[in-house]
Amino acid sequence: MLGAGGREHALAWKLAQSPLCDKLWAAPGNPGIAQGATCVALDVTDHRAVVDFVSENAIDLVVIGPEAPLVDGLADSLRDAGIDTFGPSQKAAQLEGSKSFTKELCRRADIPTARYERCTSLEAAWGALKKFDAPFVLKADGLAAGKGVVIAETREDAQHALNEMFDGRFGSAGSEVVIEQFLTGEEASFFALTDGTAIVPIGTAQDHKRVGEGDTGPNTGGMGAYSPAPVLSAALQAQVMREIVEPTVRTMAAEGMPYSGVLYAGLMLTKDGPQLIEYNARFGDPECQVLMMRLESDLVELMQACAQGRLGEIAAPVLSDDFALTVVMAAEGYPDTPKKGGKIDLGDAEANGAKVFHAGTKLEGETLTSSGGRVLNVTARGGSATEAQAKAYAAVDAIDFADGFCRRDIGQREVRRERG
Ligand code: AMP
Ligand code: GLY
Repeated sequence: MLGAGGREHALAWKLAQSPLCDKLWAAPGNPGIAQGATCVALDVTDHRAVVDFVSENAIDLVVIGPEAPLVDGLADSLRDAGIDTFGPSQKAAQLEGSKSFTKELCRRADIPTARYERCTSLEAAWGALKKFDAPFVLKADGLAAGKGVVIAETREDAQHALNEMFDGRFGSAGSEVVIEQFLTGEEASFFALTDGTAIVPIGTAQDHKRVGEGDTGPNTGGMGAYSPAPVLSAALQAQVMREIVEPTVRTMAAEGMPYSGVLYAGLMLTKDGPQLIEYNARFGDPECQVLMMRLESDLVELMQACAQGRLGEIAAPVLSDDFALTVVMAAEGYPDTPKKGGKIDLGDAEANGAKVFHAGTKLEGETLTSSGGRVLNVTARGGSATEAQAKAYAAVDAIDFADGFCRRDIGQREVRRERG
């Protein structure tokens, strides 16, 4: 298993529960992952080194957690060496790696998404802006660590942002920009596993992107999430499969870029039906943590079936009817300049069945300290959102992390709905 965050801790935790898993390696892993796996230092940009390590240790399956190695073609290097790999090829990972690739695919496959213009120069972008009204949605084409999207309220702000984008604010990710129509509605995420042919849903979730309570302040990688997202009713999920996910997988296969792995669809539920905002080529972080908390199927079996093109031959994933909710504890200063090195004492946070996934932690001797922006993902299950939320915050309150903070309103929308 490759990766070092909370998503990878959740994956490692679930993989290790499988009777099919004799030994789990993680690279680079983290102190939480190390509880159930042997962590090794491997440079994932050095494909040869990864392939050699996997071969020398006779590893049966490689699971790639984050997007960067996927977009870098690590899955191709592993497959070329005959190694079963969970994660899409470089070409298929363009669904996350290039916004314009995905928009063009939507056009070819008639998938509902916001009207858009691709712009490869500043002049063209200023021109294209005239075809849209405020608020303006501007997206740098490539991977920009979740920071490539600007929503500008005025035309002047939009022009200013375009200047910056073409001026290299996002590096090479900004050499092409997509301008989109602004969509209104509720956002939700839908996850599916596919081997390129068979497609099976593996849950829904909603996350909280803003750093502050009441969804205020700057965007982050996600301050919390819960699953399921009841707003994605069974009927809407069927519509998402039919109108968005199935045509995507079919078209990718027909065009010689079969997609295998997990497909994460970021959706806007508009009054005209679900529209695709973006695809990710991996599980969401922290959405993965809540999905794994609910998953009752064997994750090794599912991932191996994806890797081997046998997904249609095994039972579809089963998720518990429970709610799962995760609260991100971040280091003070996140998302700008998180303070590193703060001491953490987890106390008896897991006593009531909660699970603390490590996202940015480090061991200094015996002491657990923070080493990143998002530090811990405190995750709990319950029969309702209200119960899952109460358990997660009880666990948060059992943790001593003086330099950390969290939002106190994760899942509040669902809790309010449950109150009626
Ligand atoms: P992305 O990085 O594509 O997930 O975009 C980040 C966030 O920007 C999304 O989660 C949405 O909240 C917002 N966003 C992106 N595209 C649109 C759009 N066309 N209309 C409204 N909001 C959008
Ligand atoms: N939580 C959003 C993401 O993983 O992209």
